[in-house]
Amino acid sequence: MTKLKVYEYPHPILKQKAQRVEKIDDDLRKFLDDMLETMYEEVGVGLAAPQVGVSKRIVVIDAEQEKDEQGNKRGNPMYLVNPEIIWRSDEMVCGEEGCLSVPDQRAEVERNAKVRVHYWDYDGVEREILADDFLAIVIQHELDHLDGILYIDRISRLKRNMLLKKLKKYRENLAHEE
Ligand code: NI
Repeated sequence: MTKLKVYEYPHPILKQKAQRVEKIDDDLRKFLDDMLETMYEEVGVGLAAPQVGVSKRIVVIDAEQEKDEQGNKRGNPMYLVNPEIIWRSDEMVCGEEGCLSVPDQRAEVERNAKVRVHYWDYDGVEREILADDFLAIVIQHELDHLDGILYIDRISRLKRNMLLKKLKKYRENLAHEE
């Protein structure tokens, strides 16, 4: 498996609307494997294809990872191809989110408490799930990536400006350490 490069804010690919996948074949499965591997190595709970420079409607998620001494371990990996939210609950929840494309930052985001999602899986089988709790939040965050939306687009301008200032500082510190 190949570890892929994660593109970070403000790379323009993160603002693009991703294209639908036409065929689920071995080439695509190889890419899905690489995405999952990259997500685990970067210690993320989800990863969308645009984050690794591929503007396609593909997401991998593992919302059930249990941390061991080495970091993260495989819980329940999910592969979502051409995912679509077909129903959202009226009930909303607020949770703290982070993103591999916005390193070292977190912010509270409001999301629907439950969502029903239609997608194709690793084997090209059509599926539908009702997600709640943490998984519902992760799904909404990752699917946003496919429409060029980052979680920082869903917080107030004041909070976003503060967060982007902290991100700038974080990157300056990184540059000094090198
Ligand atoms: Ni993200």
